[in-house]
Amino acid sequence: MDKSRLIGLLERVERSAFEIPWTYEMLDGSLDETARIGLTDVQGRLLEIKNLNDSTLSVDSEVDISGFYLARLGLEYTELLRIAIRPEFRRRGIARTLMSDLAGYGRVLLEVSTNNPAARALYESAGYTTIARRKSYYSDGSDCIVMEKP
Ligand SMILES: CC(C)(COP(=O)(O)OP(=O)(O)OC[C@H]1O[C@@H](n2cnc3c(N)ncnc32)[C@H](O)[C@@H]1OP(=O)(O)O)[C@@H](O)C(=O)NCCC(=O)NCCS
Repeated sequence: MDKSRLIGLLERVERSAFEIPWTYEMLDGSLDETARIGLTDVQGRLLEIKNLNDSTLSVDSEVDISGFYLARLGLEYTELLRIAIRPEFRRRGIARTLMSDLAGYGRVLLEVSTNNPAARALYESAGYTTIARRKSYYSDGSDCIVMEKP
């Protein structure tokens, strides 16, 4: 699969999962050398992905995806930027599979809105704990919770 096909697949999941989805350009811009990405197929199996900046990603170009995560690897920790599952594939443990893959990158931090109970329950069930709270952080007035898994 080449990078533009991959971004097209991510874009579709984005549009199905978020009120304000990331665009093709935003996704493209975040897929640099610090990016770490996990994909699941429609059976919920993790797909191995290598060489993001290469045009020969080790994923079959015909594959369809049910969800993904996008994270950024930093010096001190990995930051989870996005995780999304297409609505028709939810509550089958697919996000949990992606969170397990992410755990391979050591210390992980993430931000979540108090207005997103599904994501909060997912992160709590994956062992994340709250380390900070930013009041009225999002445009809907909800707080931002910063969570960590050491
Ligand atoms: C949050 C999200 C990724 C969960 O994906 P999922 O594949 O349905 O989650 P899983 O089936 O792996 O659920 C794992 C656990 O998370 C919790 N959970 C997931 N969805 C939940 C919901 N709607 N309500 C309550 N708890 C939920 C449960 O503890 C669940 O375990 P259980 O099913 O054994 O009870 C999905 O709802 C989604 O894509 N939401 C829109 C995008 C989003 O908000 N992303 C996060 C912010 S970037």
